[in-house]
Amino acid sequence: MDRIRVGIVGTGWIAREHLRALGSLPEVEVAAVCDIEASRARAFAADAGSRAYSDWRELLDKEDLEALFVCTPPLHHREPAVEALRRGLALYLEKPIARSLEDAAAIVQAADASGAVCAIGYQWHAVELLDDLASILADEETGLLLGTSIGPTASRPWFLERVAGGGNLLERGSHHLDLVRAVGGEVARVQAAAGHVRLARSSVEEGDIDDAVSITLELTSGALATIVVAWTAPGQPGTYALDVVASSSTLRLELDPSFTLTGSSKGQPVSLRATTHPFDRSVRQFLRAAREGDPSAVFCAPANAKVTLSVAVAAEQALETGEKVALKAVL
Ligand SMILES: NC(=O)c1ccc[n+]([C@@H]2O[C@H](COP(=O)([O-])OP(=O)(O)OC[C@H]3O[C@@H](n4cnc5c(N)ncnc54)[C@H](O)[C@@H]3O)[C@@H](O)[C@H]2O)c1
Repeated sequence: MDRIRVGIVGTGWIAREHLRALGSLPEVEVAAVCDIEASRARAFAADAGSRAYSDWRELLDKEDLEALFVCTPPLHHREPAVEALRRGLALYLEKPIARSLEDAAAIVQAADASGAVCAIGYQWHAVELLDDLASILADEETGLLLGTSIGPTASRPWFLERVAGGGNLLERGSHHLDLVRAVGGEVARVQAAAGHVRLARSSVEEGDIDDAVSITLELTSGALATIVVAWTAPGQPGTYALDVVASSSTLRLELDPSFTLTGSSKGQPVSLRATTHPFDRSVRQFLRAAREGDPSAVFCAPANAKVTLSVAVAAEQALETGEKVALKAVL
């Protein structure tokens, strides 16, 4: 089998995760990488055994690639993503789809126009236990979802600026917004609140983001969902989970580092464990879709991720105004 030639744009934190996942696949060649910080691109290229660029346009012009991974900060997703799609490359674009709905719309439009395979990196879509959860809940009514995303994370300059990264609400909380939509269905209205205690940072560190945020979602099904996100100090233990309460089931989906589904359904205990990591599963499924030329085969398509961004934007508006925001007002 011919190896699929892949490029990576943005060689920071998440690109290292992609290199680990891609490096374990003999059918993949990471041919070229790019970062505007040339020394970072060179160091990454040395580890990947690939060519280094500091301009992604030059990379696209010179390399004969089949797929591109875009791992830049959210404000810098649109241009490389749209250009890769215009050239017909399969695109794995890191989440969130973009920082703004305008950029997201341009990416969705480019994907539709090209017909190329495009996956957005909301890897919890690829948690294999979601299939088990769906079959357990198939004949029940889900009433409450409680998402927790509490723990330390790396402090990157764009993450500390609300306008650049959307803070904990978008950068971290949108994983749970996406997961709640995948499990509980679409969102009708959003409320949000933020705490003003600095949990993770010393007071001298720059930035304007909130360390703790809570988001309440009214789903179109009538169910309620609450997501709590907190950025804690290095070394603190993390809690990443989704609790689901339905008419005959009370279940907990643990997320990271192990993926389990436990609790009780119809009077019977539930205890299931995922056998693959969703990050690797999401990447492998993207590569399979790229080989088969099937845009519908990815776990999270751009139009889907754009709806998740709409929910995050509604939550940002709710935070700013203190009002309840209807999703249809931002869509
Ligand atoms: N799926 C996940 O769980 C997950 C986890 C972390 C981050 N992410 C997402 O991945 C993306 C990157 O996050 P990160 O943590 O790796 O950030 P990072 O700051 O560690 O890395 C981003 C890199 O992109 C480079 N860059 C910026 N603009 C560029 C451009 N125009 N051309 C080329 N390179 C450019 C920067 O120099 C930097 O090296 C974000 O969208 C983030 O939300 C996803």
